[in-house]
Amino acid sequence: MLHSWDAFQAANRFRRAIRKFQFRSIPEGDVRALLAEATFAPSSGNMQPYQLHWVRTPALKASLAQACNGQKAAASAADFVVFAASPAIGRRTAEAQLDHVEKSTVLGPESKAYYRKQIGKFQRVLGTGSSVFWSPFLMLAAWIRPTLSLLPVGHLGSRQWAARNAIFAAQTLMLAAAAKGIDSCPMEGFSASQVSKLLGLPRGTVIPLVVALGYRADDARIEERWRLPLSESVVSH
Ligand SMILES: Cc1cc2nc3c(=O)[nH]c(=O)nc-3n(C[C@H](O)[C@H](O)[C@H](O)COP(=O)(O)O)c2cc1C
Repeated sequence: MLHSWDAFQAANRFRRAIRKFQFRSIPEGDVRALLAEATFAPSSGNMQPYQLHWVRTPALKASLAQACNGQKAAASAADFVVFAASPAIGRRTAEAQLDHVEKSTVLGPESKAYYRKQIGKFQRVLGTGSSVFWSPFLMLAAWIRPTLSLLPVGHLGSRQWAARNAIFAAQTLMLAAAAKGIDSCPMEGFSASQVSKLLGLPRGTVIPLVVALGYRADDARIEERWRLPLSESVVSH
């Protein structure tokens, strides 16, 4: 295996939340390459319950920047990727994955049986399990046992689950961008209802993150990086 620690560390250190980009576009092929890498992010049951909306037309970019509360990063971004997630997208993936499994000439009977069972489980969770009917049960369960708060159950739990999965794709995209010398800014400061309307997202879709892409401006404010000491953020057992 190719040992790529140095390359990974360089990309990870290069990636900063950049709030001011140059007035310069990103080659289309580069953005396509980043999007393709982002789809290799891991997801629960490989359900990929999200879509990446690449916003590149000037008029839509301007409206999106406004919907991002006029943030500087958004105002100067060359491109945007909006992460839209929902249990409904997960359900579609489950069907597509099942179809892939059934038609596969490579997977053996044991593997096929495993995937059928696994996909069936997710179909139940994302189907009836995502109904609002279950939401009070989750509230109660999480109150009694807070560790159960993240169960993908009910209309809120299943959307939180979908959003959580999308975040992996977002981070993969930003690290891929960094590896190409492209900067990014993850943003949660936006009007979700406005962004949803601009992109025509179906009801039930949530937007965990909007990522602005571009090349850092010479006068972009990049402060010294601060993190909790390892003794605080890492607990050894
Ligand atoms: C979920 C999430 C939401 C964020 N939202 C914003 C935002 O709305 N605007 C912004 O300027 N930065 C935003 N950031 C960037 C963080 O402020 C930044 O990642 C953090 O300060 C650490 O800096 P670094 O990314 O340069 O290491 C967000 C980051 C994350 C992970």
